[in-house]
Amino acid sequence: MRRKDVLDLDDFTPDELREVLETAAAMKEVLARPIRRVPPLRGKTIVNCFYEASTRTRVSFELAAKNLSADVVNITASGSSVEKGETLIDTTRTLQALGADMVIMRHGAAGAPYLVARELEASIINAGDGWHAHPTQALLDLFTVQSRLGSIEGRRVAIVGDILHSRVARSATWGFTTLGAQVVLCAPPTLLPIGFADAVSTGLRAKGISTPCPVTVTHDVDEALRDADVVMALRVQRERMDAGLLPSLREYSREWGITRERIAKARFGALVMHPGPMNEGVEISPEVAYGPQSVIEAQVTNGVAVRMAVMFLLAGGRAGPAV
Ligand code: NCD
Repeated sequence: MRRKDVLDLDDFTPDELREVLETAAAMKEVLARPIRRVPPLRGKTIVNCFYEASTRTRVSFELAAKNLSADVVNITASGSSVEKGETLIDTTRTLQALGADMVIMRHGAAGAPYLVARELEASIINAGDGWHAHPTQALLDLFTVQSRLGSIEGRRVAIVGDILHSRVARSATWGFTTLGAQVVLCAPPTLLPIGFADAVSTGLRAKGISTPCPVTVTHDVDEALRDADVVMALRVQRERMDAGLLPSLREYSREWGITRERIAKARFGALVMHPGPMNEGVEISPEVAYGPQSVIEAQVTNGVAVRMAVMFLLAGGRAGPAV
């Protein structure tokens, strides 16, 4: 992978995605060893810069960096100079002056990691920017599907929930379609972004990928789930109801919740995914979330191997069993 930063998957080629998945499989083998620590990032400093709440993503990056023997520093907005009014660029310049080789950034503003990436020599990994992108989440989703189903090309992936506000849905759509899957986005009309499906089709054509109808959009969950190989539920927040985008969470759950009856419409053995945090009983019923088709826990576990792979490749490592 010859790039300085990982900001989204829209500019990834199929080969680059495959390289990450292959390297993540090697990292998974490392994680199965009694001693999980390997040396490729020894002497490198990785700064986890989280300006927005997160548990699993932050911890996952931290574990991944430590498994590769990097030194890890954690920064949150509260308690840092951001509270004193320091700008984002100044904070990151300070980080570079202090010797950061890689910065993992989560920020509430879409585009923040792009701005930082332009300014700094250090590699930037976007760990979620506003509603825009969350590339490592999408990579771990790809890895989980590839490990469980053996392939991604030609699969039908239904993403159901608050697509409009979801960076997870956007990056996952780029990732799955770049590897030749079809994505169906399903949400109430108020929670669907306008123009995104067309933008993806145009972007894929520019990459030379010609999947017919790579992204379709529907408000009907039964239609979305029909013949799906993968069903990904997204978090629906109470704030959306308060903002008048949803009549009530109960109605949402009745119309769009992923229940056992609905999952029966998908392909036999379809995978159930959720990026977390979940609202059980709203977008997904507990029996589905913890049922036999759920790979939600595997997603979290795979996140560490995938993030190790991304850091390893950004630092100049080569795919394959190099560690
Ligand atoms: C998501 C996020 O923060 O983008 N979670 C995650 O990273 N695993 C999704 C969400 O907040 O709903």
